[in-house]
Amino acid sequence: MKSKSALVALVSSVALCGAAIAGPGEDLIEANKCGKCHTATTTKKAPSFASLAEKYKGDAAKSVKLVEMLKFGTEDHKAITASDADLKAMVAAVLASK
Ligand code: HEC
Repeated sequence: MKSKSALVALVSSVALCGAAIAGPGEDLIEANKCGKCHTATTTKKAPSFASLAEKYKGDAAKSVKLVEMLKFGTEDHKAITASDADLKAMVAAVLASK
């Protein structure tokens, strides 16, 4: 099937880029200006992504809650306007931070 092989080619080229430079999650974090308040490793207005990764290490269920937290916002966090897939990619990147 033509469309399927095109999709496979697209997915693998995205995966290759991801290995060479920052992954899609990091790009989305940049594009969504999370860096206004967060940095990778230092506490700015908000906890560093590395400290969040440490805090939620091994808590797989938390990533689902964090996607919802970003989507709907909380008293302490503004809601982020992005697709579910983008939010998931950002949370995955945050939780993979070191
Ligand atoms: C206006 C400032 C601001 C921006 C912009 C911002 N954050 Fe936050 N974020 C905070 C603050 C403050 C906290 C700590 C309070 C809290 O947990 O809600 C936080 C906490 C978090 C947490 C941990 C929540 C928890 O329950 O422990 C995650 C994950 C997070 N932010 C992700 C993001 C992502 C991804 C973006 C970009 C799409 C983003 N933030 C943009 C201020 C911000």
